[in-house]
Amino acid sequence: MSATLLTPLYGRAHATDLLPGTAFRDPIAARLLAQTGYRPPEVLTDRGNAVGSVHRAIALDAITTAFAARCPQGVVLSAGIGLDTRAQRLREHTPASLTWLGADLPEVIQLRRALLPEDPVTLFAASVTEPGWYDALTTETSDRPVLVIAEGLLMYFEPDGLRFFLDSCRTAFGPGAELAGDYFHPRLALSDRHPIVRATGARFRSGAANGHRLAATAPGWHLVAEHPVMERISPLHRAAAGIFRLITLGSRPYAVAHLKAGALV
Ligand SMILES: C[S@@+](CC[C@H](N)C(=O)[O-])C[C@H]1O[C@@H](n2cnc3c(N)ncnc32)[C@H](O)[C@@H]1O
Repeated sequence: MSATLLTPLYGRAHATDLLPGTAFRDPIAARLLAQTGYRPPEVLTDRGNAVGSVHRAIALDAITTAFAARCPQGVVLSAGIGLDTRAQRLREHTPASLTWLGADLPEVIQLRRALLPEDPVTLFAASVTEPGWYDALTTETSDRPVLVIAEGLLMYFEPDGLRFFLDSCRTAFGPGAELAGDYFHPRLALSDRHPIVRATGARFRSGAANGHRLAATAPGWHLVAEHPVMERISPLHRAAAGIFRLITLGSRPYAVAHLKAGALV
């Protein structure tokens, strides 16, 4: 199993304890987490990481519900879906006409199918950095607005893989396609200091100085909006993010970017 999927699952499972008063609810997450039989050392249970993953989920939930309101016949594709249950938790906030798709590596899809037999998400076993990954999806997406969610994914790609992924999303889903995902500034992404790197052995391989730079990784993408995440974790994290912005002349250490694909000129 990809151990990186356990930390966000842990955060969602404990969201109501971690963020007292939050409206965020993921009733399935706690059961799923228990069923993975996870080894606690592989999971970051520290408040900062767990709360950060919940704030990331809240930002992406808001982008998803806004997309669903604008495009009720649209498709939400979660790339690197892991054991995320956005389709289930947003069921009452999104139209039934919305189509939910998910892609992940074959072993993760196998695990998800075993743990979530009643999944409203149509799943595809594929690496989204391999040519042809979207071929099987396009019957579901053709001529429909698509929002790609890349939650906890982009930082694991090599720079070439990141460029390929953005290029292939624009090719597959066309101008108008949207993509929302979290990213780290390169100073953090490439430092190997993030605790998830130590906990799971996975490495971050790419980052971006800001959402505009992330969009510029591949032609045809532009930034729609950027959503702070680290600043929301705690006053200490907000202060650290402020210092980081001073040092880097305006960059955020970690954020969610919402991008849109335009026509190539
Ligand atoms: C940090 S986990 C996030 C899981 C989920 N999005 C969430 O927030 O709970 C990263 C996920 O991306 C998947 N992943 C990593 N590289 C991938 C690739 N090249 N193609 C598809 N999935 C990938 C991993 O298997 C894992 O499930």
